[in-house]
Amino acid sequence: MSATRSVEVAFLSKAAAKKELKELAKEIAEHDKRYHQEDAPVISDADYDALRRRYEEIEARFPDLALADGPAQRVGAAPLEKFGKVKHAKPMLSLDNAFDDGDVEDFADRIRRFLNLKPQEELAFTAEPKIDGLSASLRYEKGVLVTGATRGDGQEGEDVTQNLMTIGDIPHRLEGKDIPDVFEVRGEVYMAHEDFFALNTRQEKDGKPVFANPRNAAAGSLRQLDSSVTASRPLRFFAYAWGEVSSLPADTQLGVIEAFQAMGFEINPLMRRVTTVADMIEVYKTIGETRANLSYDIDGVVYKVDRLDWQERLGFVSRSPRWAIAHKFPPEQAMTVLEGIDIQVGRTGALTPVAKLRPVTVGGVVVSNATLHNEDEIARKEILIGDWVIVQRAGDVIPQVVGPVASKRTGSEKKFKFPTTCPVCGSNAVREHKEGSDKLDAVRRCEGGLTCPAQAVERLKHFVSREAFDIEGLGSKQVEAFYGEGRIKEPADIFKLQRDDSERDEKLADKEGWGETSVRNLFAAIDARREVNLDRLIFALGIRHVGATTGRLLARTYGRMDNFVEQMELAADRGSEAWSDLNAIDGIGLIVAEAIVEFFAEGHNREAVAALMQEVKDVPLEAADLSSPVAGKTVVFTGKLELMSRSEAKAKAESLGAKVAGSVSAKTDILVAGPGAGSKLKKATELGIETLTEDEWLKLIGG
Ligand code: IVH
Repeated sequence: MSATRSVEVAFLSKAAAKKELKELAKEIAEHDKRYHQEDAPVISDADYDALRRRYEEIEARFPDLALADGPAQRVGAAPLEKFGKVKHAKPMLSLDNAFDDGDVEDFADRIRRFLNLKPQEELAFTAEPKIDGLSASLRYEKGVLVTGATRGDGQEGEDVTQNLMTIGDIPHRLEGKDIPDVFEVRGEVYMAHEDFFALNTRQEKDGKPVFANPRNAAAGSLRQLDSSVTASRPLRFFAYAWGEVSSLPADTQLGVIEAFQAMGFEINPLMRRVTTVADMIEVYKTIGETRANLSYDIDGVVYKVDRLDWQERLGFVSRSPRWAIAHKFPPEQAMTVLEGIDIQVGRTGALTPVAKLRPVTVGGVVVSNATLHNEDEIARKEILIGDWVIVQRAGDVIPQVVGPVASKRTGSEKKFKFPTTCPVCGSNAVREHKEGSDKLDAVRRCEGGLTCPAQAVERLKHFVSREAFDIEGLGSKQVEAFYGEGRIKEPADIFKLQRDDSERDEKLADKEGWGETSVRNLFAAIDARREVNLDRLIFALGIRHVGATTGRLLARTYGRMDNFVEQMELAADRGSEAWSDLNAIDGIGLIVAEAIVEFFAEGHNREAVAALMQEVKDVPLEAADLSSPVAGKTVVFTGKLELMSRSEAKAKAESLGAKVAGSVSAKTDILVAGPGAGSKLKKATELGIETLTEDEWLKLIGG
């Protein structure tokens, strides 16, 4: 060992660091070779790890000394036990979908309205293929690749840096001058057809499972704990977006993507800039025609507003940007036999018919189950058991039965009789009347409530799902097993699992599929969720009609769980202030409000929530910007706004931590009134509420 290594990294001179990095790289490479190729290591794993750690510490202190072919860049590191997590500095968003030309037109119109553009003003978009792979985020600091992560839930992904470094299309160091200090490049990891087929042939020969399609192969290859396996899989990468950046090389989408190319990335050669909806659709058609000849899978065309200042103003709704949309290609279809129909009971008691199909390949994936939606659909499409049916699959959505091929009937097909009792608990299953009409709801629901095991289990699965508590190691399979053994009956039991296990004769660690380590990890993962963001907590309760977006709205409005529960109990009285406050929230309609109040009117639910709150602590949502003078204030917009559209005004106010309400009440802090304001302005004046013009409002929020 060289004498310099006794010097702490913090005290190394640059010259000494350079020398040591070179020596270390050589030494590590020799050990790698002995370990991986000759199966004959000469040092212990711990000593080897110490060498690598020292190398990484020096590299982190002097990133510009990183060797292009140094150990960090090379595969052959010992397999990891599991991936570390990476919090994305900017969330990784998904895209809203357009399915036909009309949706594309609506998209462009929506943007024009939001930005208040004059009809003659040019609105340019980029149009490019939507690659069917998996997205990844690459963080460069001072031009050197430091972290690479998967998308994960959009907020937090898995650290797959070593694996991404094995992909030839991903530069380890950005090319060119004036590279920003922090530069996160995002794009799609994918596998080309030819490589996919070759990989499957190899897998088959080695007696290993084959992949259903290139996307699964790419995902499976990237998420390998041993990066030498990833290195042996031919993955590729297209750069098409970015995350946190200390500065941008251009002020248009196209300009930035072209800069990516200059920095050493592959960009998609089919990308175009267009200025009319007709041209967007033209590009969609052209790319659609090219699709069959491309060497990789694509599933649509993505349009993005070209001007970045407009992207900024448009912002995003929930998880997708307002400035981009994916125009999907029509779903792929196949024909097969409907062998039977099963009934599944969901979280809210809905009975869903599931088609049991003779397995068939649709768009590269074997399908044997598909949804039939509800009993009216089966009747409307005149689907019989034994029919040949058309099945379709579009991207990630559940495969669906499109309809029967009546010409192939033999006469032996049978009508399906939809059950009127729950197949799981035997309770009555009924179709409710739609509010205010004599029409029946399309969905038949089990009336067993939480006494129905199917509903209870589905609620628990929802509770631990990704957008809810997201407990690592506790997925649907485990929830089913734990429910079956009586370990978990309601959400609070999840947090009592460890205590309960210590009192049981049959320990979890002794059960098949579990061991000391996995049980310890599970308990740790559960404990890690004892503090949970309020929006996740509300969403996790599984209240009908309350999705992740409504969860966020409620969290923002009520601040803390105890306040939320108290207000919802008060709101049971339809004459109460709490009820009118709930209905005043912009984005919450009557049906949603009713569902929330009904949920809390149910004793079972109140008890389950109270028990849960003995175990967990809610974390209020951070007000987006607490320094803003409108953070926490309730704002109402009325009349015509002239400088921005109503949606832009609302989005801006919310991003500054304000709550936007649809009607004026004593709780309103500010009324922003444009020309033509009427009853709301009058009411605000009567209540002595601060009233601002649009100009005054903009001045107040500083922009
Ligand atoms: S842009 C903020 N462009 O589609 C917008 N996404 O459905 C970020 N994808 O998670 C995405 N090709 O994995 C964009 N040319 C493309 C894409 C693309 C494929 C994927 C990406 C994203 C998903 C959203």
